[in-house]
Formats: sequence, C-alpha cells, structure tokens
Amino acid sequence: MGLATKKFDAVIVGAGGSGMRASLQLAEAGYKVAVLSKVFPTRSHTVAAQGGVGASLGNMGEDSWAWHMYDTVKGSDWLGDQDAIEFMCREAPSAIIELEHFGMPFDRNEDGTVYQRPFGGHMQNYGAGPPVQRSCCAADRTGHAMLHTLYQRNVRANTVFFVEWMALDLLKDNSGNIVGVTALEMETGDIYILHSRAVLLATGGAGRVYAASTNAYINTGDGLGMVARAGIPLEDMEFWQFHPTGVAGAGVLITEGVRGEGGYLLNKDGERFMERYAPNAKDLASRDVVARAMATEIKDGRGVGKDSDHVLLKLDHLGPEVIEKRLPGIREISKKFANVDPTEAPIPVVPTCHYMMGGIPTNYHGEVLESTNGDYSSPLEGLFAAGECACASVHGANRLGTNSLTDLLVFGRAAGNTMIKFLRGHSSHKSLPKGAADLTMERINRLNHQQDGESVTEVGGELRAVMQANCGVFRFPELLEKGVQEIYSVAEKVKHTMIADKSKTFNTARVEALELENLIEVAIASLVSADARKESRGAHDRSDFPERNDSDWLKHSMWFKSKSQLEYKPVQLKPLSAESIEPKVRAY
Ligand code: FUM
Repeated sequence: MGLATKKFDAVIVGAGGSGMRASLQLAEAGYKVAVLSKVFPTRSHTVAAQGGVGASLGNMGEDSWAWHMYDTVKGSDWLGDQDAIEFMCREAPSAIIELEHFGMPFDRNEDGTVYQRPFGGHMQNYGAGPPVQRSCCAADRTGHAMLHTLYQRNVRANTVFFVEWMALDLLKDNSGNIVGVTALEMETGDIYILHSRAVLLATGGAGRVYAASTNAYINTGDGLGMVARAGIPLEDMEFWQFHPTGVAGAGVLITEGVRGEGGYLLNKDGERFMERYAPNAKDLASRDVVARAMATEIKDGRGVGKDSDHVLLKLDHLGPEVIEKRLPGIREISKKFANVDPTEAPIPVVPTCHYMMGGIPTNYHGEVLESTNGDYSSPLEGLFAAGECACASVHGANRLGTNSLTDLLVFGRAAGNTMIKFLRGHSSHKSLPKGAADLTMERINRLNHQQDGESVTEVGGELRAVMQANCGVFRFPELLEKGVQEIYSVAEKVKHTMIADKSKTFNTARVEALELENLIEVAIASLVSADARKESRGAHDRSDFPERNDSDWLKHSMWFKSKSQLEYKPVQLKPLSAESIEPKVRAY
C-alpha cells in the first residue's frame, strides 16, 4: 500500500527562529507552506536563547556593521566565510527593526529605542575595544519573545503547522533533486510523504550528542542525519561551542548577558582570573577563550566545590533592581537548579556544550551546496537550510554570543526569499519516483520487526559518553583516536537497536530510536573531523598542535557518510564589498 501523500509548495522542517522566519516570508508571498515540528512551535529550542540578538543599531553609542563583521571574522578564528559574514552583519539591523515592527517586545531605552547590552567578543573600533553594546534583548528571555512574535505572524499569514511531526528522510526525484520529505505523525504513528517543490531544513542544533548540554532534548541533529543519509556532506563538524556558564551539575544556560551587565568569574581563591587570560576584554572575551580559561583553572586545582570541578559567577554586586529588571530568568534558574539566590551569592558554573558551528553546507542565500568533483559552487536543486543546522559559514571555528539569533533571522529571511525565487522558476511539482520512501520504510520496518537487540537508552548514553570524554574543550590525540574507534562501535549498535513497545500511538520509544540514528551521524562526523584537523583553531584546541596553522588548515572539513571520506573546501576570504580581513593572531 502506498503512503498517504500531502502536497505543498514548500515544506519547512523545524519551527524554531529560522524555520518560522522563512515560512513567514513564503506564506506572506502567498505560497502554501507546511512547517513540521517535533514540539509545539513556541517550544522549539530558540525559546531557550537568553541574552540577545546582535545587530549594530548603535542605540547605546557608536557602532557599525563593519565592526560587527570584523568581530565575527576574528571570533571565527578566520574560518568563517567573509561573504556570508558581511551579508549577515549588513542585514542584521534591518532584520531587527522588522522584528520590532512585527511586535517583538524588546527592552527599551528612555528614548524608546531598543536597549542593547555588551556581549563577549563584540568590541568597538575593529576589535580595539572597549566592548560595544550590540545585543538587542528582551530581558533574559529574548528567544522566547522572538518565537512568540514569529509564531503569531505565521498564524496570521496562514502557515500550516504540523505539530508533533518528525521528518525522517529527504525524497529525491530521478535526477537527484529534492522533492519532499517523509515524516512520522507522532499521534498516530503513521508515515506520510510530504511532496513539495522546495524543502528547507531548519532543524536546529544537535547538542544532545554530549552528556552535559544546554540544549533541549529535541536537539538531535535530525536535518544533519537526513542530509548525511542522502549523500550530502557535513561541514566543520569538529567545532563545538562550550558555553562558559552552564549551571554546574545541571547544564542549564546562564546567559553571557550576566557578564554583559557586569558580572564576572571567580576561582576558589576569589580571583577574577579572566584578567590574566584576556587583559582587555576580560570576562567578555570570546566564548572559546573564556571556556578554556575556566577549564584551565579547574584543571590546575583552582576550581571550587568539594570536587574542585566548577568556578563561580558573581553578580550580587549588580544589585537586586538590575537583576530583577535585566536578568529575572537567571535568578529563577539559579534558585531552581543551583539552590542559590544570585542577589546574595555567586552561581556555580562550568563550560557546557551549547552550539554546533558546523552543519549542512550552504551559501548565504540558504541554498544547500553539493560537491561536483570537489567544487561547491552549485546548489542542490530543491534543498535549502538555515539556522544552527546550516553552515553558511558565519561562525567558522567559534561563534560569538548573540550571533546565533542574528544568523537565524537573517538567513531564515534570506532562505525564504531564495525559495520564493526558486518557486517562481519551478511552477510544478517534480514527480516522485517509485520507491522514493524505501529508505524510510526500511528504517521503520526494522524497528517494527527487530525482536531483540540494543537498548536505545543505553546506546544513546554510550554515544554521549564517547563525545564528552574524547571531544571536549581540550582535545588530545590519543583521546581523539580512541573516540573515533569507540564511536564506530557505538554506530554498529545503533544498527541493531530494539524497541520493546511496537505500538503506534505516541510511541516516544520509536521517536528516540529514530533520533539516535541522526545523533550517530553527527557524532561520527564530529570525531572524524576533529581527529583529522591537526591544528588548534577556535573551539578546536589540540594538545599536540597548539597553534593555528593557516598554511595547511585554513579550509573547511567536509565529511561524507556515503563515502566514509573527508574532503576539504577553501574558506571564502573575499567579502561581498568590504576589504578582506586578513588572518592575524587572535588576542582579546
Ligand atoms: O549567553 C547567552 O545568552 C547565549 C547566547 C548565544 O548563545 O548567542
């Protein structure tokens, strides 16, 4: 029996900021758009973004898109593509003003303009400093406000939401163009074909490959699994961001906005240690620098607590009024997860996996790029990606705080615009070949019929333990090698997972088994790419190659699951209109 099919002009997988920004563009242009989401749209992980969205509005003092661009290139440790970075920084102010006009409840200054706070790595005057106030925020719940704003606009524009649906695989026509997705309706357990003229992957991050993560449980790299299975490479997967301030033992995010508002880190001796590591920017250095400094303090015995395994974030000196006005959510999180009222005592914090710099290769129009004999200039017809799952690449080897929300707004809108152009030129649906959904049905049938095998929970735990132990803030050659071996043996187990409950209705065991098949692609790509990159750059810090090596490694890693092979792609050092920002030593 054939699968039930639904037809749309465009299908968007993921209802976070980038997905809903793109769907809004398409729906307002009159297209029939479906947005699939594993959770209710306003519960997508963008909701957890706290400290703000970067844009050089200059509301608090002088700023410019060129300064923002410089900071982003430097933050990326020169691995970011400068055409995409220029595009993002130039477009950011208009994307914010537009969002303001959509009704986003930003914090305000006395004169009615949007309030902006400092954030790590964002400086005045081409990095010379002091810090610039660039992060536009709604207290410490910026992502929450953004998602609600975008959801309401989408409802008004008649976007069709498929809530609690999980996309499974990409569908190709006989020429290899993307013509839709297969998807699981969780409520019924039924599998559908969503046949469309264009597909946008906006599935967010995959931070659940680590045991300690600020990411939601839904962040399982579903879009990355889909493209890996479809023969498309994954780019720069060795670069994982550890946010300096996750609540120790709980992983919940404490926004960098705390340090933006004047908070700072202390070791067990009460020393403000960032002054030693980053004399100019101090606690507002970029995240990789702060996370490494914290890990070094802990490693060298200056950590706090009975196991000396964390440091402290002090903010009580800001006073209860500032904390209540600017950081109310932080106070709540700190009380709930650390049993500390930050108006009285410092919060115990530790670097925690937060963001995936790599992802699905795209250009700055949101088109997914395929390789033609190592050349990545031609897009794969019908497929687009935006937000954290995509690698445009604006974050390179290390993302600056606030640039993830900037990325998803700017590239969500750009991808929507590109898709509109594409739909105008491709007015009818390409036909679905026979057997288009075979891969999905093989995966589903295996789970339905496998009578004994591996436990999804146990194998998932092993996967996370391998990543946590071997691919962390500091990387060691023997651990990377061991990690690669171990992750391949975990991958064998993933092929033989068994779910005891074979029922269809709301079978979350089946969903978790399918998610694990995505997580494993992310973990393999990360470990193999990290083991191969013999230098230190941004978030990838190797003990055996402590320096950045531009002669050999100023290039993007491209991991192909289909060929079990790594290839490399040059970094775009030429911006769209600005002068190229030449690589130099990165100091804060
Ligand atoms: O610290 C934060 O509020 C996180 C922001 C970000 O990841 O951009």
